[in-house]
Amino acid sequence: MNKYNFNGDLTPFGMPLWDVAKQPFPEEFPEYHTPTAGILLQCEAVMLLEHAREKKLIVDIGTFWGLSASIMSLVAEQVITIDVYMKFNGLTYEQVQRGGLSKFKNITAIESDADEVARTFSKPVDLIFIDANHEYKNVKGNFDSWFPKVTVGGEILFHDYQVYFRDEVMKFINDEVITRKDLEVIDKVGTIIAFRKLGNK
Ligand SMILES: C[S@@+](CC[C@H](N)C(=O)[O-])C[C@H]1O[C@@H](n2cnc3c(N)ncnc32)[C@H](O)[C@@H]1O
Repeated sequence: MNKYNFNGDLTPFGMPLWDVAKQPFPEEFPEYHTPTAGILLQCEAVMLLEHAREKKLIVDIGTFWGLSASIMSLVAEQVITIDVYMKFNGLTYEQVQRGGLSKFKNITAIESDADEVARTFSKPVDLIFIDANHEYKNVKGNFDSWFPKVTVGGEILFHDYQVYFRDEVMKFINDEVITRKDLEVIDKVGTIIAFRKLGNK
């Protein structure tokens, strides 16, 4: 059931796991500690922090232990993070809460399929971070469900835009996202690519 095999400090594709216990981050938030190690490079964590600044509402798709959600919650008003937990990653919602996520008071954690949540979600969203199931149809499903909720001027960030491990994410973005006229690429750091939503021209 558990698709991750964490041993030591490397991700399955040989990159170092972000481990705040070993690399205090970020300097401006000395009290911050993440619930546990997560799957972000340090440069990606810093990038997320910068993009999350002053955003009113962020939706984080794929909680895992809450690393991306907790980093963004330091500088955003509210973060909603969604995960199917046991159905995909072998963790329970309670485990992740006890692991530390409950300490972040401006995070709302939802146990559900992310696309299901979108069906009845009506608030405008300033930033979405897509990092759930990395198969083509699932990344596309997350994008199609959540893109309409993002405000004009808001941001859409994808994790794992890379060729050598999660090539389906890259294929979806190259085939169906970069080509859109209502989006522009605004940043790329590590394996995260960021887009801004443009108004209708
Ligand atoms: C790569 S991890 C997320 C890592 C997290 N962003 C971090 O910073 O550590 C992907 C997560 O997406 C979740 N997931 C998979 N399919 C999902 C779905 N349909 N809806 C919501 N979450 C899903 C998995 O359970 C897993 O915890």
